Amino acid sequence: LDPRPIGIFDSGLGGLTVARAVRQALPRERIVYFGDTARIPYGNKSPQTVIRFSRQIARFLGRQRVKFLVVACNTASSWALESLRREAGVPVLGVIEPGAHAAVEVTRNGRIGIIGTEGTVASGAYPRAVRSLRPGARVRMQACPLFVPLVEEGKVSGPVTDLVAREYLRPLLRDRIDTLVLGCTHYPLLKAALQRLVGRHVRIIDSAEETARVLKWSLEQMSLLSKGRGGERFYVSDLSAKFRDHAQRFLGRPIRRVTRVSIERY
Ligand code: DGL
Repeated sequence: LDPRPIGIFDSGLGGLTVARAVRQALPRERIVYFGDTARIPYGNKSPQTVIRFSRQIARFLGRQRVKFLVVACNTASSWALESLRREAGVPVLGVIEPGAHAAVEVTRNGRIGIIGTEGTVASGAYPRAVRSLRPGARVRMQACPLFVPLVEEGKVSGPVTDLVAREYLRPLLRDRIDTLVLGCTHYPLLKAALQRLVGRHVRIIDSAEETARVLKWSLEQMSLLSKGRGGERFYVSDLSAKFRDHAQRFLGRPIRRVTRVSIERY
């Protein structure tokens, strides 16, 4: 048993979808969440910058004595996982492997569509993860850069969102995918709209839920589970006027206390 907290980080507040899933799967664990709200988005930044930011955050969370590091951000998982695993001194889990694993489990025709940020697509991390599990799988990726701002503005359904989504998903549907991985923290909020668009025969994989499942399994395997009462602390690098609104949207309930951190110092 290990009462130390689990560290979860993201480029912003989208990773609260992962924190929420972890809370549900592991109610007795303490969670320390860091959202890099001052520097979001990561999705269109260079790998070097994403790696540098991720290492700073890992050092900050290390100071919080976390026992396990969860990289909730798909873009950071795509670029920074290796360096974090070398340096963190605790186990590190990203969202790519759990999402890829779930996709190969559910696909019947072996045609998997994956949507994410430009960085996630450029890294090739998802296709690599899928092919290592199922070499014959056909992976079709699509960057959806307009989805993050749409979700941030609360436009999770409606004509604008449908139009953009139809445009992005057309090539995947033409490829006759039967599985669609939501490879970005923000996309679970679009799940209903996307499901309507792709139809019921396409299974949608939410990386957040899969990651929580894998985290639970890993903690069990490593005897790192806590028997405590749970709890959570939230840190961000910028506190804007929209913070509470945004946080609630991703977490599904209000955040009471939050602390701002000068992350550049780490
Ligand atoms: N958190 C990012 C991801 O999951 C999306 C937002 C961003 O571009 O930073 O890829």
